[in-house]
Amino acid sequence: MPAPLANIHGQMMPLEDVKVSVLDRSFLFGDAVYEVMRVFGGKPWLEQEHFDRLRGSLAAIRIEGVDLDRLRRRMHETIAAGKFGECTVYMHVSRGAAPRKHAFLKQSLTPLELLWVQEYDDGPTALARQHGSSVITYPDLRWHRCDIKSTNLLANVLANEAAAEADCSEALLYLPDGTMSEASHSSFFTIVGGVLHTTPLKANILPGITRNFVIRLAQKADIPLREQAIAKEDLFRADEIILTGTTSEVLPVVRVDGQKVGSGEPGPVARRLQEMHDQAVREFLSRH
Ligand code: PDD
Repeated sequence: MPAPLANIHGQMMPLEDVKVSVLDRSFLFGDAVYEVMRVFGGKPWLEQEHFDRLRGSLAAIRIEGVDLDRLRRRMHETIAAGKFGECTVYMHVSRGAAPRKHAFLKQSLTPLELLWVQEYDDGPTALARQHGSSVITYPDLRWHRCDIKSTNLLANVLANEAAAEADCSEALLYLPDGTMSEASHSSFFTIVGGVLHTTPLKANILPGITRNFVIRLAQKADIPLREQAIAKEDLFRADEIILTGTTSEVLPVVRVDGQKVGSGEPGPVARRLQEMHDQAVREFLSRH
């Protein structure tokens, strides 16, 4: 397996050789945003959508002066240099390094522009996609701007750890009012009576790229969609539940908090969306 290859400010090097200052604000404050992209056969999937979201995240936290076209070129150069095929790209832009001080406007900062490419083994996730996965529910302890893809992920980390300790792949997060937001590192949908349900974007969730792509697939397949609040109890009445995310793709959930979802097997809507997703990737690869 080739070693992960990094690119920091245009310089390529093995990931383990990258050095970042301890005064970098992503280390001290989590003052940074990121993206994770899936690459199929050397070609980044939904690339424009990821760069658009990165632009939005940077603007939302007022990190200025990052040339995203240049970052994009560096990404392609790094994928090509490492001859990567099936891989992921992690991109991380922080506000930069400066003496520790919360406010940032009066400091002259150069954003840190880091990315790395690493080979991706889809095997375990492919198996979960085939058989379905189990999840827990867990309180959403995050801040009020989860639409920004920031590296402040402590609440997500703790939620996912609780899931892992329960031998589950994900944690579906619930808010104090008893409605659901999203999962610790994925979006999710329920399916009830053939209708796809998901939390609206105006609630406190990340605008998932795969979420949006799956909504487009559902429109093509004439599967009705309802973007409205999902109560925690609704999970236990759903016929099907799916997780969506960059590496999860369309992942059926077959148990929530130990209870079977529907028949306890991946359902027909999940299967249909999986097929459409795979077909879309095949078409993308044949076009590029
Ligand atoms: N996670 N919600 C959260 C909180 C996420 O962190 C992610 C992605 C998603 C799915 O978004 P997308 O379809 O754009 O990948 C939803 C990434 C992959 C991660 O943190 O590793």
